[in-house]
Amino acid sequence: MKENFDESSVPDQSGRTIFITGANTGIGWDAARVLAARGARVLLGCRSPDKAAAARQRILDLHPSADVDTVALDLASLTSVREAAGTVLQEPRLDVLVNNAGIMMPPRELTADGFESQFGVNHLGHFALTGLLLPKLKDQQGARIVTVSSLAHRAGKIHFDDLSAEKHYGRQDRYSLSKLANLLFTYELQRRLHAAGSAAVAVACHPGGAETELSRHLPKIFVALTPLFRLVMNSSAEGALPTLRAVVDAEAKGGEYFGPAGFAEFARGARPVRSNAVSHDAVVAKRLWEVSVDMTGVDYEFDAAAA
Ligand SMILES: NC(=O)c1ccc[n+]([C@@H]2O[C@H](COP(=O)([O-])OP(=O)(O)OC[C@H]3O[C@@H](n4cnc5c(N)ncnc54)[C@H](OP(=O)(O)O)[C@@H]3O)[C@@H](O)[C@H]2O)c1
Repeated sequence: MKENFDESSVPDQSGRTIFITGANTGIGWDAARVLAARGARVLLGCRSPDKAAAARQRILDLHPSADVDTVALDLASLTSVREAAGTVLQEPRLDVLVNNAGIMMPPRELTADGFESQFGVNHLGHFALTGLLLPKLKDQQGARIVTVSSLAHRAGKIHFDDLSAEKHYGRQDRYSLSKLANLLFTYELQRRLHAAGSAAVAVACHPGGAETELSRHLPKIFVALTPLFRLVMNSSAEGALPTLRAVVDAEAKGGEYFGPAGFAEFARGARPVRSNAVSHDAVVAKRLWEVSVDMTGVDYEFDAAAA
């Protein structure tokens, strides 16, 4: 892969099918735009049918021959996750699942299944979706599960005694928890794929700081300061570069983590980066995995085979 990764580094993707969650806007949409332009069949997993249709049309306006479809997916509902997985399982093939959708720092809310929403959407919904799609991915040569984390994982702690935030809810704290969970999940998934002799690998990425709709729950002062932030942070398209590299880098190894190449991993380009020590703690990861199976009721196929 060339030193300065940009959109032109993305090779031909003809023949590959790529499912991206939260692809109607932000980083997910920009990743979808580039992958569709390179010939991939791209499935946009979105919770709003109107936003999904508009997002698909925006790609077709740029690339009229692109192969883009939408899949209804609300990660805040396990019923919806199961239905979306059922739809994707009907595809002739699936090469890459990009667990991109996310929410950041909303007031305390619960998902349809009663999970604290940041943990429920950012981690548990993707945990369930990945497990349900694994039969399609595990024997596919070159298959990948890419999960989008954040620099915020560094402040994360998994509150196993209060995952639903009934005792205490801190907006930032729960976002960091969910983004640490994304990495613990990726590394544990990679260990399990490897142990099962799967052809698929699990990798992760983060976009640094990118101007997207993720800031919708931030205080208004942050929105007012956006022109200032713009000087140092990524656009949405630049923020999609680590995701694109995680999807297409032929040299990427299972468990690899990509982030921006610039100062403090905040912006510009994409290169391999390192996550913190806690994210590599295999004991915490195994516990989170078991809790996630209990909470979602989704048992991974290779786990069931080993039981
Ligand atoms: N932007 C940054 O600086 C930054 C930094 C670190 C990490 N990240 C991560 O990057 C990823 C993408 O975020 P972004 O910055 O592109 O934010 P964004 O512009 O707000 O896009 C988030 C996407 O997730 C979707 N989504 C939210 N809740 C969902 C649900 N319940 N079911 C299905 N889809 C749902 C949104 O759909 P709607 O439009 O319908 O809400 C939207 O398509 C997230 O995982 C985020 O944590 C972003």
